[in-house]
Amino acid sequence: MLAALYRSPGGSEVLSVTDVDTPEPAPGEVRVRLHVAGVNPTDWKRRTTTAPETDFQVPGQDGAGDIDAVGEGVDAGRIGERVWVWFAARPGRRWGSAAQYTVLPSRQAVRLPAGASYADGAGLGVPAMTAWHCLYADGPITGRTVLVAGGAGAVGNAAVALARGGGATVIATASGPDKAALARSAGAHWVVNYRDRDAADEIRAHAPDGVGRIVEVALGANLELDLAVLAPRGVISTYADDALADLPVRRLMVANVSLDFVLIYGISDGALDAAAAGVAAVAADLPRLPVTHFPLVEVAAAHDAVQQGALGKVLLDIP
Ligand SMILES: NC(=O)c1ccc[n+]([C@@H]2O[C@H](COP(=O)([O-])OP(=O)(O)OC[C@H]3O[C@@H](n4cnc5c(N)ncnc54)[C@H](OP(=O)(O)O)[C@@H]3O)[C@@H](O)[C@H]2O)c1
Repeated sequence: MLAALYRSPGGSEVLSVTDVDTPEPAPGEVRVRLHVAGVNPTDWKRRTTTAPETDFQVPGQDGAGDIDAVGEGVDAGRIGERVWVWFAARPGRRWGSAAQYTVLPSRQAVRLPAGASYADGAGLGVPAMTAWHCLYADGPITGRTVLVAGGAGAVGNAAVALARGGGATVIATASGPDKAALARSAGAHWVVNYRDRDAADEIRAHAPDGVGRIVEVALGANLELDLAVLAPRGVISTYADDALADLPVRRLMVANVSLDFVLIYGISDGALDAAAAGVAAVAADLPRLPVTHFPLVEVAAAHDAVQQGALGKVLLDIP
């Protein structure tokens, strides 16, 4: 099969697209013939920092395609099923989604709803599951007010939609009108420009009692804003590695703030399954961000585009 791979960590120049043996599904696994792969920031970050555990690593956690083979113990009736996959290149697994085939545990290949395209499915995994976990790790959010920082980002946009779908009042932030429009179309009741001097007042105007939960992409930049709008005993669920010079411990303590740090690689299998199920339940209704397509042979350019902060989703079309 044709696969993108790298043999040592480094810049996007370590990626090549080459022929390798097609993997066979082990017991409990399925093999998926991929049509589209999603590219996420984690793909270039991992490629830059982490050496492959075996002689090569196929990058890519997310993708979508058709199950074409099953391992021992998996219902053969799954062959032919249209699926989206999550965590294909989880640590310990070399067969990421930037290839014609991947093999992975059966539960990580989830049926694509009718009406959802492979491109839709390839955008779900990492961003939507991270968003779901940040929102729902402590239970339902019905009737709560949620603030989503960066409501046009891949995780942020999914968080807006998942929060709205879960019955929350949703306030999102965005840096300009185009991004505000994306947050609004995902379901945000209000969108505030976090660069405005009076952003906290604007958010407070929509949430006079404060917001109960914040899904945060830039804790270092936004902690002051977050503390200005968070309700007592509120939760900040932060998922990006944004430097924070000082932690205002007393202010956090006085407001009884819970600061939840989320890294999807480290959450339990039960929590991952809950996130996948939560996303699957609404996958047909999740918003579609603008998409930039690259052919598989241009995987290096696709990684660079994500690293440079491309708006919307970057996808690889698999031949
Ligand atoms: N912990 C985990 O498990 C996990 C999972 C997924 C992603 N991540 C990380 O999360 C980050 C975002 O991922 P992504 O895929 O969503 O990236 P993305 O699609 O590029 O979105 C990033 C968003 O962050 C917004 N942003 C930047 N600075 C901001 C600020 N100070 N306040 C509010 N919004 C701000 C940007 O919007 P503006 O241009 O409007 O500022 C942009 O929309 C990456 O660093 C990624 O590695 C971590």
